[in-house]
Amino acid sequence: MSIATPRLLLEEATPAAHALSWRIHTQAFAHEGAQAWLDFRIPYSVTGNIALARQKVQTIRSALPVGNEPIAVLELGAGLGFFAWHFIQAWQEWDQRNSESRPLNYLLTDFSRSTLDAVAQNSHFQSLIESGQLGIFCLDQPSAENLEPVSEPLFKVPSKLDAVIGNYYACTLPTTLLRRDQDILHEKWVKTWLNLPDFFPVLDEDTEVAWREWVLNLPVSQKLSAAAQAEFACLIADLPVEKMAIAQAWSEKLPFTLLSQLEESVFYEPLPEPEPEDRSRELLEAASIQLDEQSFPWTHGLWQRLELLQNWLKPGSLLLLSDKGYYVSSGVLPSDLAQPSCHGNTWAYPLHLDLQADWLSQKGWQTAHTPYPFDPLQTLIAIWQPQSSNTSLSWESAFQTYFIEQNINLDAARLVKAAQDYHSQEDDQMAVGFYQKALRYRPGEPRIIHELTACLIRLGAFQLAQEALQQNCLDLYSQFDFDYQKGQIAFFLGQSQVAYTHFRNSLTHQGDHASVYYSLALCALAQEQAEEAFHNLTVCLELDPEHDVAEQLLKRLSLSTF
Ligand SMILES: C[S@@+](CC[C@H](N)C(=O)[O-])C[C@H]1O[C@@H](n2cnc3c(N)ncnc32)[C@H](O)[C@@H]1O
Repeated sequence: MSIATPRLLLEEATPAAHALSWRIHTQAFAHEGAQAWLDFRIPYSVTGNIALARQKVQTIRSALPVGNEPIAVLELGAGLGFFAWHFIQAWQEWDQRNSESRPLNYLLTDFSRSTLDAVAQNSHFQSLIESGQLGIFCLDQPSAENLEPVSEPLFKVPSKLDAVIGNYYACTLPTTLLRRDQDILHEKWVKTWLNLPDFFPVLDEDTEVAWREWVLNLPVSQKLSAAAQAEFACLIADLPVEKMAIAQAWSEKLPFTLLSQLEESVFYEPLPEPEPEDRSRELLEAASIQLDEQSFPWTHGLWQRLELLQNWLKPGSLLLLSDKGYYVSSGVLPSDLAQPSCHGNTWAYPLHLDLQADWLSQKGWQTAHTPYPFDPLQTLIAIWQPQSSNTSLSWESAFQTYFIEQNINLDAARLVKAAQDYHSQEDDQMAVGFYQKALRYRPGEPRIIHELTACLIRLGAFQLAQEALQQNCLDLYSQFDFDYQKGQIAFFLGQSQVAYTHFRNSLTHQGDHASVYYSLALCALAQEQAEEAFHNLTVCLELDPEHDVAEQLLKRLSLSTF
């Protein structure tokens, strides 16, 4: 007999696009900010890199009219600005290679103030602001009057834009799931529950209300406040003592795992009738017929925003969206279109590229998109009210050249993926080859250099590892512990004093980590400083009581010293 998991009703039935899960997603992006990227919970390397930036610069520079006046580029949902930084580098490369000097006014935008504060405080971005190329703005509904400067740009805010970029932006905007059922278009509705740990007692009506209130007031993706902890202690006051510690641990994790702990009871309701002048319904109907009874995502949040954006565009301006996506016309669909991918408390739905392209055409755009159905990233380009003008390539030819005939970003992504697969099979030699090749497309990328160096260290190729770390590399937010790797290399090369300095630098730049203290202890032993080694091993075990090797070494050291 199976025992049902206890669960708590959090929200009565509501259209899925307005349900609690979307509010959690939005709060996570809005309030958690930079930390989500810095902890690697939100992946960004497929878009925040020099290869994709070069492809977009090449396409824009080839397809926009030649001239001297500044080009205004707006990036939506820019996150921590990895793409923006590389785009500005790629812009300068283009100028140098073509002996041009076209001013760029880059508007980096996102709706999350906390993310943008981290960008504005970063010295690498400050220098771009000071050079007059970059402005940072808070922006959700994209129109010029909604821009809120986070850092004042040195250029005048453009009244019309030349190009708009979104990377993994459309896939995070409010989306609903549609389905055709008995010839009628239906939308997804959900009733939302929270799964509780097995040992929870059955809740009576009053306690259920108190629990619901506690969960709904949790600050998403943030540590529990003292007040929330105190309220939780009251809620579990009747639990047996031995369960309290488990309940406490569960409560501490909950704000970071909330989205994945939800259970939604799903059903479909007929989609309300559209406004009479809204012609979009025909497109949804057509898409639903093609997909038969399969549910498919409709990114209505993107449609709303693009409608607004149109008033801010010059005729002939370009839109470049890179997202997870699929197109029904390819005949190859992801196994379950209704399942988003989850990243912490956020999620992302694939973009229905045919539907998106049809909608853009209906609104006066012309479009094209990448034709490789299995790629993890699809790019859709659209031109607003096309004009005949003085360009080096038409927008279609530029896109064909830089995204279809070659797609250096995707070549690099495939190489990195192959390297990581070899790495996980412990074939470091093969992994090294693929990482080195990936670096030709994405030179200086810190993550690739860090993973390559780790493989080389494991292979004992210390000279090559040292060379890998000497490449030009800019780790914008100091996410990678290169000091630790330098320390490892120096230690294995017998330079324990040098290694010691690198390990200390690692603590200064990356904070306390047990493995670094363990390595410091090894350096101290190599220099016959038993007391120092003893101290470092003790700190290592305080940080990680399960560090077996440190424990054994400390025991041996205690026996030989005392
Ligand atoms: C998946 S991340 C992509 C970030 C970045 N473009 C990249 O490729 O790594 C989605 C970004 O969109 C932002 N975002 C989500 N909803 C938004 C909205 N309504 N308006 C503007 N930005 C939004 C989030 O804060 C986040 O930075």
